[in-house]
Amino acid sequence: MSSHDPALLRRLAGSLGTPFWLYDASVIRSRIAAIRTITSGEGVQARFAMKACPATKVLKEMAAAGIWIDAVSGNEALRALRAGHAGGQEPPVICYTSDVFRDNALQVVLENGLLPNIGSPGMIRELAAAGYRGKISLRVNPGFGHGHVNSCDTGGPSSKHGIWHEDLANANAAAGAVGMKVVMLHAHIGSGPQFDELLENLGRLVDEFSREAILLPHLEAVSLGGGIPHNYRDPHAVLPLEKLAELFARARRQLSEAAGRPLRLEIEPGRYYVAPACTLVTRVTDVKETRDNPKGKGATFAMVDAGFVDLVRPAMYGSWHGIEVVGRSPDELPEPIVVAGPLCESGDVFTRDDAELLQPRDLPRPVPGDLLTLRDAGAYGYAMSSNYNSVGRAPQVWLEPDGSLQLISRRETVEDVLKAETDEPLAV
Ligand SMILES: Cc1ncc(COP(=O)(O)O)c(C=O)c1O
Repeated sequence: MSSHDPALLRRLAGSLGTPFWLYDASVIRSRIAAIRTITSGEGVQARFAMKACPATKVLKEMAAAGIWIDAVSGNEALRALRAGHAGGQEPPVICYTSDVFRDNALQVVLENGLLPNIGSPGMIRELAAAGYRGKISLRVNPGFGHGHVNSCDTGGPSSKHGIWHEDLANANAAAGAVGMKVVMLHAHIGSGPQFDELLENLGRLVDEFSREAILLPHLEAVSLGGGIPHNYRDPHAVLPLEKLAELFARARRQLSEAAGRPLRLEIEPGRYYVAPACTLVTRVTDVKETRDNPKGKGATFAMVDAGFVDLVRPAMYGSWHGIEVVGRSPDELPEPIVVAGPLCESGDVFTRDDAELLQPRDLPRPVPGDLLTLRDAGAYGYAMSSNYNSVGRAPQVWLEPDGSLQLISRRETVEDVLKAETDEPLAV
């Protein structure tokens, strides 16, 4: 049974309403298997950057496959623990990576013995003030990086992430002065679409880390971060992942030689595991037109009941997701259609570019009642959804290869939207 099966999508829409998210377990498992293959070399370990898709069901798949976790908040770490990932640092299954300790993060790190991956020198002072004297990892801004858009470029002078590479020796000295040992060097140099650019930047990073490893007598591991791309426009394109496997083996040898002892080499992809594994299914409520006038060109709008509260990537970065009218061939008299959602913002449009301009998609003209799918929505999809306009998050459904289905989160109600509101008097 496939998550593309029109009859299945119609049955689900009839029973759950729309919009809803449909995860295909077989796709996630094949992506996990691909990452396990390229990290099967000695001393190489994969994590999952759970920010991409933190559903418990997905976290359990990762735990069963021996994939460790990169968490970026106290609550993400708690979700990973509840899904069965181990706390503690032997081995450090859950690593906490952030530039800020917010809310419960420091407490969760301390109480569960997680490995803190420090992105800002002041965090060493905060850890020391809380009485921590254990191992730490340092997240480095190596001075270069790439991204599919500027806001996803995580290395270079304009990036807020990590400790600037020229300040690493100072950060290491500050850690040593308060009894902490730097056991891991980490960088995430961005989530760009170009595989060759990733390979080139990872090679540069390994060279930089080899020079820095000499400064760190307690170093046990190096993390090269995430950033394995997914081809949204051609989801079946096959990446030459074997080149990454070779790079990891070479990198581990080079870094271990530089450090003078065997080091663990880590990676922490997010998107690659989950991007193609989920579809956002929405219903067309109307099709309407604007007309050319001196201000601009008219357009045909397919109005749907999903919006950027569900899938924010197109509105946020102009990201491209495959769109299909369920049960209709894409070649059936396609015409340029703008797909727009129900929210109170004119930017609530799934077909626009990164300059915020409408980018109509060639689709068979839908009619009200048709289902429409937004493909490859598994990474930074539900994870980034919000309660803007108080609509409530849409349900998530899990499809097993044998066709069995599970509701892994239900549709949020007004009670869910209101549940944090109180009228408690506050005495401060
Ligand atoms: C520190 C860190 N690691 C890993 C990732 C995962 O990146 P991707 O989903 O592109 O693999 C991110 C993404 O923002 C990140 O910030």
